[in-house]
Amino acid sequence: MTDRLRVGVLVSGRGSNLRALLAAADGAAYQVVRVLSNVAGAPALELAAAAGVPTAVIPHRDYARRADFEDALSAELRAAHVQLVVLAGFMRVLTPHFVGAWRDRIVNIHPSLLPAFPGLDAQAQALAAGVRVAGCTAHLVDEGTDTGPILAQAAVPVRWDDTAEALSARILVEEHRLLPRVVNALALGTLRVEGRRVMGDL
Ligand code: GRF
Repeated sequence: MTDRLRVGVLVSGRGSNLRALLAAADGAAYQVVRVLSNVAGAPALELAAAAGVPTAVIPHRDYARRADFEDALSAELRAAHVQLVVLAGFMRVLTPHFVGAWRDRIVNIHPSLLPAFPGLDAQAQALAAGVRVAGCTAHLVDEGTDTGPILAQAAVPVRWDDTAEALSARILVEEHRLLPRVVNALALGTLRVEGRRVMGDL
């Protein structure tokens, strides 16, 4: 396949979603062409290197202005001819400056059934709220925090004796299934975004 969608992945840490994307890329309609981290030594960088994907570290602290940090990200992504940006555990909020530059071309995976529990510690938020069903959401990134159009979701049960760790692990299994399928569907063009509604199928 010659014209697979060129995906750039932004990470900050462990990289288990990156691993899932890399594992599913063989024979898929997308390829991961660049992995960028704002954190030096992030385990995700080793995963990328082991898969032969070029990486770069762009420490946000090196930049006085957020826009300059984001321009540095964009420059790396453009140099790699990236067509779709995936946030996989990227722990910096992206401002409208970056979102506008990559409008409708940024996907995030979030560990809750949005619009419930946006932001940090979504799994603990779900437990504290007492919901009986939790899950994860793949969505396009807009200017808000976890507010962009929902591409796909997967649900898991919440158990009576759950801890945030146990619930997170159950959700993570679904994240690893969902994210590669969504990226592949976007690459194939089988998911279409019309306003806040997403048409088509995974
Ligand atoms: C995942 O729970 C994801 O939903 C959230 O950050 C975590 C990243 O984990 N956005 P990993 O680095 O992909 O293992």
